[in-house]
Amino acid sequence: MSRRIVITEFMDEAAVQTLRAEFAVVYAPDLVDRPADLAEALRDADALIVRNRTQVNESLLTGASRLVAVGRLGVGLDNIDQAYCASRNIAVVPAIGANAAAVAEYVVGLAMVLLRGFLFSSAEVAAGTWPRARLASGREVAGKVLGLVGYGSVGQRVGQLARAVGVRVLAYDPMLPTAHPAWRDATRCDEVDDLFRAADVVSLHVPYSAQNAGLVDERRLGLMKPGAVLVNTARGGIVDEAALARALRSGALAGAAVDVFAHEPLPAGSALAGVPNLFLTPHVAGVTYESNERVSALIAQRIAEILRPA
Ligand SMILES: NC(=O)c1ccc[n+]([C@@H]2O[C@H](COP(=O)([O-])OP(=O)(O)OC[C@H]3O[C@@H](n4cnc5c(N)ncnc54)[C@H](O)[C@@H]3O)[C@@H](O)[C@H]2O)c1
Repeated sequence: MSRRIVITEFMDEAAVQTLRAEFAVVYAPDLVDRPADLAEALRDADALIVRNRTQVNESLLTGASRLVAVGRLGVGLDNIDQAYCASRNIAVVPAIGANAAAVAEYVVGLAMVLLRGFLFSSAEVAAGTWPRARLASGREVAGKVLGLVGYGSVGQRVGQLARAVGVRVLAYDPMLPTAHPAWRDATRCDEVDDLFRAADVVSLHVPYSAQNAGLVDERRLGLMKPGAVLVNTARGGIVDEAALARALRSGALAGAAVDVFAHEPLPAGSALAGVPNLFLTPHVAGVTYESNERVSALIAQRIAEILRPA
């Protein structure tokens, strides 16, 4: 009997076809929103492939007695109970590095337009108010300091791209060994508060964990330089959204780009609604046409390797 793979969220079609050539595949990008159908599909599944919306925990996997692998079309594993999977010998396979380039372009591109200040000028220009005087003193990124909180595969890629346009890179990652070659491209910061004080752009690249919840709170936002901006593509819950809204409304922070939220989808009427100089995206920093192909091909290959008979 051929082995079975259940895919609960969107995946590149070419990668799905590769899997279909060898395995029985249930592919329904909306299966995540149909819990009863998902539980039924998992009863005889050997592998499960998800993005970040499917909550992979004991209650989902109890009936999936044959499951040996969970592929994650992305890198954050906060939606997967890794301890439970380990207790069942279920391999958890993230697409490490495959969407880093997409996040890097998002961060550097947004840092440029936030410092320049003209990201939010379209409505005024179209309305004929011509805000040229206000926007004539935007800043360049070259020579500015980018502070990376978390210097793993995404943080390092962001740093590389930023250096290419003349940005000075500071990074805080006490877990990354001092001998790691990536430190040749960034100045190591030993205290996260020092990074918040020094950076013109702070960008977050740590995973979500109990330790990292609320890492960017009112006090740390208060350490940032006048005119500095914040980019969060890491995870919601790492930044205190209400404190961020206050810092932007008061002008203490010049701008922010936020791709990830404590509750996704971001509920209407949240603290972030109507806040000035704030650019919001729906958790797509790492999702592009190209990264979807790379992430999907990598996960298809890794899951196939696990399921193929030895
Ligand atoms: N928005 C998106 O589309 C998107 C895309 C890719 C990744 N992400 C998020 O970015 C995170 C990072 O991805 P990655 O591939 O670089 O992971 P990674 O594991 O390669 O790197 C994370 C780094 O953070 C460091 N770290 C952990 N806690 C820290 C702390 N408190 N202070 C400083 N450093 C700390 C770790 O030592 C590690 O080096 C993911 O966990 C995910 O949540 C989001």
